[in-house]
Amino acid sequence: MKRRVFSGIQPSEMIHIGNYIGAVKRWVESQNDAEKENIFCVVDLHALTVPQDPHALRERTLELMALFLAVGLDPDKSILFLQSHVSVHAEGAWLLNCVTPEGWLKKMTQYKDKSAKQETVLTGLLDYPVLMAADILFYDVHEVPVGEDQKQHVELARNIAERFNYHYGETFIVPEPMIAASGARIMGLDDPTAKMSKSSAHIKGHVIRLLDDPKDIERTIMRSKTDSGSEIRFSKDPEKAGVNNLLTIYHALTGKSKEAVEQDFANARGYGDLKKAVAEVVIASTEQIRVRHRDIISDRAELERLMKLGADKARAISEPRLRDVKKKMGLILG
Ligand code: AMP
Ligand code: TRP
Repeated sequence: MKRRVFSGIQPSEMIHIGNYIGAVKRWVESQNDAEKENIFCVVDLHALTVPQDPHALRERTLELMALFLAVGLDPDKSILFLQSHVSVHAEGAWLLNCVTPEGWLKKMTQYKDKSAKQETVLTGLLDYPVLMAADILFYDVHEVPVGEDQKQHVELARNIAERFNYHYGETFIVPEPMIAASGARIMGLDDPTAKMSKSSAHIKGHVIRLLDDPKDIERTIMRSKTDSGSEIRFSKDPEKAGVNNLLTIYHALTGKSKEAVEQDFANARGYGDLKKAVAEVVIASTEQIRVRHRDIISDRAELERLMKLGADKARAISEPRLRDVKKKMGLILG
């Protein structure tokens, strides 16, 4: 039997190369693996957990859907859909809320970080991992490819699945987080000690967005923070975090081994050479994506047709599991 894969990404801010390397690029690889059945979702309900401008949210949602296609996700091979189009997610999250102790949610690192930055913390922000668990569990998913930062949320989904199965009988598959060995944590280019993050996208020189202009990409990389030395090698030394981050980006995008990457820079004259090479690789690997995105986003009707198609396929999988869960919990099916 094929292993089912599910992952999602929020339409908050345009996605950056950290999202691409840590998540989306790996989805494309998973799509081309004959042993896997893949489902990828634009999780717009998750974006609502922090205040959003409705118009901007709509635009970014379409932009992200178009980006799925532009990076090579194929609606004939994978199910691609918008979370809010399938009511199982919101309904399922409610049911799972009623088996999830609140203490589990208050312990989540991302909740603690994000809530500390908000004046008013919305209930949805606390409940966010339960919605994520619903995304995963109602699709009988085996594998969840995500970056390091989402591991804790996938573990929570596992705990929820186990608790449900214990109370109501064997129902949910307990999913595995799939974290990339390398590139699972791309750091900010302005500050290599902090994860590259959408919520810091407003800070100058922090992110490279997938659709950024080549000139901007080059500028951001040439100005990225390194150290005062000259040694170009992978390293866990916090001092060398900037160089390590640039090498990790190069390694992930070229697919070369770490040894081969270090070899490429054995004769470099300094960090300038490294930065130039990294900029070239980033620009080359995003070029096609930019061109395709421009075409795809201009055909709104086709984009809407594909979203509808994806949602129909998603419903066909998740609705039967939702009915099963409702029945097990003692609800009367309508
Ligand atoms: P988010 O930006 O939180 O919507 O994350 C979307 C996906 O990208 C998730 O799978 C994250 O784990 C992954 N991700 C986010 N930031 C990074 C990063 N700096 N490096 C690698 N992966 C990331
Ligand atoms: N919470 C994830 C993030 O911010 C996105 C997400 C929502 C997700 N639902 C999911 C990822 C289900 C994997 C599986 O990155």
